[in-house]
Amino acid sequence: MTTRVLSVASECVPLVKTGGLADVAGALPAALAAEEVEMRTLVPGYPVVRAALGKEPEVLSERVDLFGGPARVLKGKLGKQALYVLDAPHLYDRPGNIYLGPDGQDWPDNPVRFAALSRAAAQIGAEGIDGWTPQVIQLHDWQAALTPVYLHDMGAADRVGTVTTIHNIAFQGLAPATMLSQLGLPSWGFNPQGFEFYGKISALKAGIVYSDAISTVSPTYANELMTMEFGMGLDGVLRQRRKDLTGILNGIDEDAWTPPYKTARGKAKHRAALRERMGLPDSDGPLAVVISRLTQQKGLDLLLDALPGFLEMGGQLALLGSGDKALSDAYLRAAERNPGVAVEIGYDESLARALVTGGDVILVPSRFEPCGLTQMYGLRFGTLPVVALTGGLADTVIPASAAGLAAGVATGFQFHPVTAQALSDTLAQVVDLFRQPAIWAKMQRNAMAHPVGWSASAGAYGALFRSLVKQP
Ligand code: ADP
Ligand code: GLC
Repeated sequence: MTTRVLSVASECVPLVKTGGLADVAGALPAALAAEEVEMRTLVPGYPVVRAALGKEPEVLSERVDLFGGPARVLKGKLGKQALYVLDAPHLYDRPGNIYLGPDGQDWPDNPVRFAALSRAAAQIGAEGIDGWTPQVIQLHDWQAALTPVYLHDMGAADRVGTVTTIHNIAFQGLAPATMLSQLGLPSWGFNPQGFEFYGKISALKAGIVYSDAISTVSPTYANELMTMEFGMGLDGVLRQRRKDLTGILNGIDEDAWTPPYKTARGKAKHRAALRERMGLPDSDGPLAVVISRLTQQKGLDLLLDALPGFLEMGGQLALLGSGDKALSDAYLRAAERNPGVAVEIGYDESLARALVTGGDVILVPSRFEPCGLTQMYGLRFGTLPVVALTGGLADTVIPASAAGLAAGVATGFQFHPVTAQALSDTLAQVVDLFRQPAIWAKMQRNAMAHPVGWSASAGAYGALFRSLVKQP
């Protein structure tokens, strides 16, 4: 029997993306179809999403007032599955980044914007839409995580199963306590056992406390989340819900990310093209690439420290990223000073692809990484990942340790602790092994054969969703 699941996300490929969440929300409906899960998706009606719906989309429901303005649910398509778009111009009709105002800061009304998304999701759970009622709602990150509270309030929590999926615990959706009634939240939940977090409202905590289950995007991150070091204040609550918490590794869209070569030997011409595109001179050392948000999470400040040594040993770096101004400036300066460093600040899908295709190694030195997708692109393209030993990076890369090499199973490089020194040491190993073509080629073959698609994880999600269906 088919299980009906509503997935609620603040971003979703191919409509709108700022990070990996969008890739995952976009890939799941198709990946789950083989598991007899019918997943439909609810997203906010940002201008790009509205535009993708065309001029006169079908209107499925309307209300005069959703947190200060009129709102409608419009119907679209995401691949073969139905897409529901929450059209509420007072909340979403704004230019630029979906979360940030022109000053680069969060929109001050973000708590309201995403409470509205959660409210609309709960209403679909309680009343159905489009002749369809979900049995389970999957809530991605804090932007959807108030849904179970609204479901409780609507008296529907015993009919609809809920799972909150944590893609990144660093983003918790905090709002001042004074917004309680504006967000339509019940006072019964505003206490330390509920969604209060040190005097504030925490949307993510609401999801953790009131969902039937909690999932995250890798098994290692599921364990890390329950520790003080990684739980960011929510580790205690997560420990309390240990038996309902599960880590399911992300996959990547293998159709969208297929190398233009059968074996990594085919990389040579793409490497040459990449050097030319980035203005890097020819070299017989390894070309390292980075595709990343530039934030503290991603550990790219460590790479700045390790970079001079790597360049000296004959390595080169090509980096594509956007985010933190101080980090972008530092990388732009490094590129100015070193002919072996090329930097592009911005968001560029085509360059991202060229980097993965042409690079020899892809660097992901993250301080924490719930799953990470770019190391998986690297595996598939024979672009060996160099990753910190944390979260999903630990779960996807088999390191070139003495044992890994002896057994002939290594697919990349892992370093620990997450320091510039450990990264430097690992980059020295990269340069060393790059000069041993037989070992390198073997690692590339291993990497390219490593499964990175959705099939295993789709099965795990299917089982999770089925376990959450509530009998009438
Ligand atoms: P996160 O979601 O934390 O940013 P992930 O590795 O899960 O990290 O996903 C990042 C996604 O965004 C990948 O698909 C990556 O290729 C893409 N990406 C990140 N930065 C850029 C950029 N500057 N240009 C193009 N794509 C980018
Ligand atoms: C978050 C995490 C990243 C993960 C992505 C998709 O953005 O930072 O590690 O891959 O979500 O789940």
